[in-house]
Amino acid sequence: MPIEIKKVGVIGAGQMGNGIAHVCALAGYEVFLHDADSTRIGAGIATINGNMARQVSKGTVTEDARQSALGRITAANTTEDLAPCDIVIESATEREEVKRKIFTGLCAVLRPEALLASNTSSISITRLAAATDRPERFIGIHFMNPVPLMELVELVRGIATDDETFDVAKAFIASLHKTYAVAEDFPAFIVNRILLPMINEAIYTLYEGVGSVDAIDKAMRLGANHPMGPLQLADFIGLDTCLAIMQVLHEGLADSKYRPCPLLVKYVEAGWLGRKTHRGFYDYRGEKPVPTR
Ligand SMILES: NC(=O)c1ccc[n+]([C@@H]2O[C@H](COP(=O)([O-])OP(=O)(O)OC[C@H]3O[C@@H](n4cnc5c(N)ncnc54)[C@H](O)[C@@H]3O)[C@@H](O)[C@H]2O)c1
Repeated sequence: MPIEIKKVGVIGAGQMGNGIAHVCALAGYEVFLHDADSTRIGAGIATINGNMARQVSKGTVTEDARQSALGRITAANTTEDLAPCDIVIESATEREEVKRKIFTGLCAVLRPEALLASNTSSISITRLAAATDRPERFIGIHFMNPVPLMELVELVRGIATDDETFDVAKAFIASLHKTYAVAEDFPAFIVNRILLPMINEAIYTLYEGVGSVDAIDKAMRLGANHPMGPLQLADFIGLDTCLAIMQVLHEGLADSKYRPCPLLVKYVEAGWLGRKTHRGFYDYRGEKPVPTR
């Protein structure tokens, strides 16, 4: 019998983790939200509360639905609190050693039939699955940012992922009112294989002085009809995540065309990670974002 998903664990309460918890709770799942930094759990739940309130004011969610969804989210202060979950979706920092450690630890806590999923943007699902005792029950479920608004989810099978896990994951995604695209387990899958080299190239364009932050973003918004400029988008994704994805592409595909721009490396070294640290290619500390170059 395929596992019936009722209880969903989410590891990592950052911008993606809280979005995943948000859509799962609204879809009726009982959600357990965990983060290594316990202050992030409370902050994540507060963000979900605010984002759901915005949906209520827009009329896309009722106040009743908001109240009951919030009531379905529990703070999981330890990984042991995730023991009742039928699936755990990991959405912690984009570092392979961090994720492998999380998964190895989780296996000791979860029931053997529980599924494991990673929201990784780029890391091999096969390698992450190999850190667990259940590679056949492991799958990549890659949500897009911001999760409540974006329709697509990339679904990535590792070499060992079985058909049952694939089918359960497809039904789970449909229950969240999202659409999936299947990607093979290659570095950065489909969306980020295409998107991140473009963002990296925009940063090279800035680095080489071809244009200012404002000129580059305006050029791509109005000249290529992108809804958001690539540097604004990089800030939105998080520059640490952008760098991590470029490093996975560079190492995984062994091609110099994926070399991360030195300016991106420098920003990350400075701790300027984009919107989440209030500074990236734009400065977000004032009322309106101000381009920094
Ligand atoms: N930012 C995006 O646009 C985007 C889109 C799709 C997928 N992703 C992926 O989602 C994941 C999370 O990205 P994010 O943007 O939410 O990052 P974030 O920096 O906002 O959040 C990461 C969270 O993980 C927590 N964390 C770190 N180590 C942990 C551990 N060992 N155990 C539990 N929690 C831990 C941190 O405390 C932090 O709260 C990454 O794998 C990223 O590649 C990001």
